Amino acid sequence: MKLPQKILTGLAAFVVLATAALALTISYTSDCGAAAAVDEGDERFQAIQFRCYGPPEVLELTLLAKPVPKDDEVLVRVKAASLNPLDWHYMRGSPYLIRLTTGLGAPDNQRLGADFAGVIEAVGANVSRFKVGDAVFGTTRGSFAAYVIKHQDGSLAIMPKGASFAEAAALPVAGITALQALRDHGKLQSGQHVLINGASGGVGTYAVQIAKANGATVTGVSSERNHEMLKSLGADYVIDYRQTNYTDGDARYDLIVDMIGNHPLTANLDVLQAGGRLVIVGGEKGDWIGPISNMIKQPLLSPFVDHEIIVMLAQSSGDELAALAKMMESGEIESVIDRSYALSELPAAMAYLEEGHARGKVVVEIE
Ligand SMILES: NC(=O)c1ccc[n+]([C@@H]2O[C@H](COP(=O)([O-])OP(=O)(O)OC[C@H]3O[C@@H](n4cnc5c(N)ncnc54)[C@H](OP(=O)(O)O)[C@@H]3O)[C@@H](O)[C@H]2O)c1
Repeated sequence: MKLPQKILTGLAAFVVLATAALALTISYTSDCGAAAAVDEGDERFQAIQFRCYGPPEVLELTLLAKPVPKDDEVLVRVKAASLNPLDWHYMRGSPYLIRLTTGLGAPDNQRLGADFAGVIEAVGANVSRFKVGDAVFGTTRGSFAAYVIKHQDGSLAIMPKGASFAEAAALPVAGITALQALRDHGKLQSGQHVLINGASGGVGTYAVQIAKANGATVTGVSSERNHEMLKSLGADYVIDYRQTNYTDGDARYDLIVDMIGNHPLTANLDVLQAGGRLVIVGGEKGDWIGPISNMIKQPLLSPFVDHEIIVMLAQSSGDELAALAKMMESGEIESVIDRSYALSELPAAMAYLEEGHARGKVVVEIE
C-alpha cells in the first residue's frame, strides 16, 4: 500500500473509531443507584425527580427543602402543571444527542416538567413585576413539584382571567409553539389555507384555534375520533390520517404545520402552493437520527425548491405568555384538557402521553 493510501485508511479508521466511541459514550445509561436523598428540615415540599434515564418508572416522588427566592426571583406555589413530549425526551435522554446538554450517563438536573400555573407565595427584594398572591403561569425546569422559583424577567406572566390553574398550566409550551409556528415561521395571512398535521394534540389544538382566529381556512389531520372536537375548535376541513394520506390529495395549502413528521419532506412540498411554507414542529421518533433528520435534510433540500422549509424550536418568554393570556381572555383560544392526574400519578400520566394519542393536553393537579 502506498503512503497516501495508508494515510487515508488510517484517517478512515480513526473517524470510524471516534464515531463509535462517541455513540457508545452518549448512549450509555447509568444505573439508578440508591434512592434519592430526602432533604432535612421542617419546610419540605413534594417534587418529582429522576436519577437515571429510562421509562416512566424512573420518576420518583421525593421531598426537597423549600427554596427561598433571591432578590429578583419569585417563589410560586404550583397548583397545576402540564406534560409535553419534551418531558419524556428528557426523562429517557432520547434522542441520545440531547444528553450532550442534559448529562452523559445520567441527568444533571433531576427535576422534570416545564409548564406550570400557581400562586406567588414570596418575592425577592427587587421584584417589581409581580406581588405575593398573583396567579401566574410559565415555564421552568422542574414544574412537577409543589414549588418552583422563577426570575421575574423570565418566562412568567399573570394568568388569563377566568382560567383555571389546569387551563393555564396547559398553555405555555404548546401555546407558544403553535403561536410561533403560525405567526413567526408560517407568516400566516388572513384568507390563507393552512393544514395542521397532528391537529388534535397539545400543540395542534391551540394551532387550529389561533389559525382560525387569524382568518385562515383550516384543515386538521387527526384520527376520526377527534374530528368533532377539531370542528368545534374551528377546523373547516378534517382528514383522518388512518384513511387518507393528505399528501396524495388535490388540495393545495399556503402553509403546512407538521407536528408528526410521518411524510417525506418532498411529499409535503408537493401539496404546498408555489411559495408556500412548511413549518416542521415535530419529527420522526427514535434514539438516533430520526428526530433530527429534518435538520439535516432542510439545508440540503432548500436551495432546490421554491418553498420555505423551517425546522423550528419554540422560544418561551413572559411577553409571549402575556399574548396568549390575552387570546384566552378574549375567547380566541381555550385549553383542551384530556386527562388530569395527581402528582403521585405522574408515571401513569407520562406513559399515557408517550402513547402519542393525547387529545389536547394532559395535566397534573397539585394539592
Ligand atoms: N419544535 C418545538 O419547539 C416543539 C415544541 C413543542 C412540541 N414539539 C413536538 O411537536 C410534536 C407534537 O407535540 P404535542 O404536544 O402536540 O404532542 P401530543 O399532544 O402528544 O400529540 C398527540 C396527538 O398526535 C396525534 N397523532 C398521532 N399520530 C398521528 C398521525 N400519524 N397523524 C396525525 N396526527 C397524529 C394524535 O391524534 P390521534 O389520537 O387522533 O391519533 C394526538 O392527538 C412532538 O413531537 C413534540 O416533541 C416541538
